[in-house]
Amino acid sequence: MYGIVNVALEQMVIDTYGQNKWEEALLKSGTGITHFEVDKLYDDEVTYLLIASVAEVLEIHIHKVMNLFGEWWILKVGKGKHAKLMESGGASLKEFLINLPTFHSKVILIYVEMFAPQFTVTNIEANSILIHYHSNRRSLTEFVRGLLVGLGKMFNVPVSVILLSSKNEGADHDTFRVSWN
Ligand code: HEM
Repeated sequence: MYGIVNVALEQMVIDTYGQNKWEEALLKSGTGITHFEVDKLYDDEVTYLLIASVAEVLEIHIHKVMNLFGEWWILKVGKGKHAKLMESGGASLKEFLINLPTFHSKVILIYVEMFAPQFTVTNIEANSILIHYHSNRRSLTEFVRGLLVGLGKMFNVPVSVILLSSKNEGADHDTFRVSWN
């Protein structure tokens, strides 16, 4: 994955838990990397090792780290460095979610070698929608849950995100129901 992912994780840990915790997690990860560059490609395994190590050092469940990281991605990376891009996604939570399937076709113009996730949406109702998440990568389900919660926060709309079926449990892909009031 592009280094921006690892750099964002680093920033989240430093800002929330302090520099020392990040140094500790970095060392424990065993990646042997001490500095990440935003535009450089790194093996996906590096990111998985970092996330696992952060969970260990902070003594919080790995799913929780991924939830927090998803929220951070939307609220700090999305709304920070890529604010214009995020704004182009839609003017309301519902609009953004409906547009999600095409969102990374804009992202890929910046990160040209990325392997983008695939989203489809179905069951669009007044206050809910089903988000289908397809990826060849493993176990990013809880990151996606965090992203969806983060999108709710971005629009100041409290959301409920329920995982209806999961690739980890044999489904073809992950399906979430996102509901709001
Ligand atoms: C400005 C906003 C965003 C930027 C710049 C961005 C950029 C990226 C980048 C660089 C990657 C790494 C892929 C790679 O290097 O191969 C990635 C992955 C991913 N992004 Fe985004 N993204 C943005 C918003 C979103 C949003 C709004 C969602 C969904 C709600 C999302 C869902 C994901 C997921 C799930 C992955 C993991 C890839 C996979 O599952 O295979 N991203 N994104």
